[in-house]
Amino acid sequence: MKRILLATAALAMFAGASVADEDEPFEMQIDARQGIMDYRAIQMGVLGPMVKGEVEYNAEAAQKAADALLAASTIDTSMLWPQGSDSDAVASSGALPALWAEGSDAGAKGQAMVDAATALQAAAGGGLDALKAAFGPVGGACGDCHKAYRKPNG
Ligand code: HEC
Repeated sequence: MKRILLATAALAMFAGASVADEDEPFEMQIDARQGIMDYRAIQMGVLGPMVKGEVEYNAEAAQKAADALLAASTIDTSMLWPQGSDSDAVASSGALPALWAEGSDAGAKGQAMVDAATALQAAAGGGLDALKAAFGPVGGACGDCHKAYRKPNG
């Protein structure tokens, strides 16, 4: 009896998931990629105030954030950007159709973020000046891609 109940519960969970998918195509992929973006923003939010002098530089905290940012920049998200998950097709998506269009250089812009985050990871624990020098290019790489492929206010 218990086994049947468990099986039924599992089926109900499955049914729930597929209904949600029909309501909002690619809901899980969009949630996941936005969550990874938010995770990157959280690390930038640790480092930015140190760079601006609003928070005292702390080598250990800076290194931890830079390590986490590099990890979140190098994670393979290629399966999280399926065709048809653009902001014209799905309300919760903030990704412009241009990202999938002919001539899109989103891959190169992603690589620019990885390169900048790699340099930041090497520098962040080495003093405030080193952090400052390496921080700007990462913010620039985020902003570059957003300007091209993220819906304003999306
Ligand atoms: C290669 C392109 C690219 C790079 C590089 C990039 N982003 Fe994004 N980002 C996007 C796109 C596209 C979206 C919209 C995704 C969506 O809503 O489906 C987005 C959305 C976001 C969001 C909003 C997420 C949400 O909850 O809706 C945040 C925050 C964010 N990015 C932060 C960052 C930070 C910080 C960096 C750099 C460390 C960064 N991004 C680098 C393309 C990029």
